[in-house]
Amino acid sequence: MGKLDGKIAIVTGAAQGIGNGSAKVLAKHGATVILVDFAESVADAAEEIRKMGLKADSRRVDVSKLEDVQKVVDDIVAQYGKVDILHNNAGVNRRVKFEDMDVKTLNFIFGVNIYGVWNMAKAVYPYMMKAGYGRIINTSSVTGTKVVDEGQTTYSMTKGAVSALTRALAYEAGPHGITVNAVLPGWVRTPKVEQVAADSRPEDPESALRDMASFIPLKRLCNIEEIGDLVAFLASDDAKYITGTEVIIDGGSTLPETFDILHA
Ligand SMILES: NC(=O)c1ccc[n+]([C@@H]2O[C@H](COP(=O)([O-])OP(=O)(O)OC[C@H]3O[C@@H](n4cnc5c(N)ncnc54)[C@H](O)[C@@H]3O)[C@@H](O)[C@H]2O)c1
Repeated sequence: MGKLDGKIAIVTGAAQGIGNGSAKVLAKHGATVILVDFAESVADAAEEIRKMGLKADSRRVDVSKLEDVQKVVDDIVAQYGKVDILHNNAGVNRRVKFEDMDVKTLNFIFGVNIYGVWNMAKAVYPYMMKAGYGRIINTSSVTGTKVVDEGQTTYSMTKGAVSALTRALAYEAGPHGITVNAVLPGWVRTPKVEQVAADSRPEDPESALRDMASFIPLKRLCNIEEIGDLVAFLASDDAKYITGTEVIIDGGSTLPETFDILHA
């Protein structure tokens, strides 16, 4: 008996990375998971989960386009009857210093990370209200909300917005039996992060990942299933009294104050 048996879950950005890990874990706990992504490979990702003997389906959509998102969510509800869980996870990043950032890139990042998250929540919300039940879990980040790096002004703004939406929507949604929470990952080993390592040290990306890990108290990057475990918890009955909360999952990476320079 899985803790998410009978639940219908939508996970965005599920073709790869964190969304893919989350989809697998939710399915392992018994949910029927609809993997949503604009990448064609999302169909293969769903097939991989079905091959594990679990329940999965897929839809292709660009989450930044409200009309398309609405159609996809309506279609999912027409087929499955409801949406219990939304892991609102699709996100993009471009590391560009503030003086070099242009409006086109700004709008692109806002489109996915802010409008995309809003669009998905907006589309599932009436169904959850009607059912008197829902679990919305947004992927925010420690970046922007707790810490920053160079080239992250726009991304930071978007994650601040996701965290703000989480609290404000949780307040409104509570009386309808809907909880809204955010997960704030630190460094997770995903294709996106592997690309960051490859860009910064093309001759030896693995050494860049090792160096990143050396600054994390738990001495490794997070894996995608570990984010899935947290999402499954927040989606389950075990978390039924938790709402409006941001859960940091960073292996302690945001703890250091001086990196022990005084003791070095
Ligand atoms: N990897 C990390 O270390 C890390 C840390 C903190 C937060 N995050 C956040 O986690 C989420 C996932 O990150 P990831 O590292 O797995 O990224 P990723 O790039 O590996 O995967 C993102 C997925 O989202 C999909 N996607 C992008 N734009 C889309 C759109 N407009 N419509 C539909 N799908 C779209 C991509 O096709 C891809 O499958 C993002 O919101 C990111 O900001 C990641």
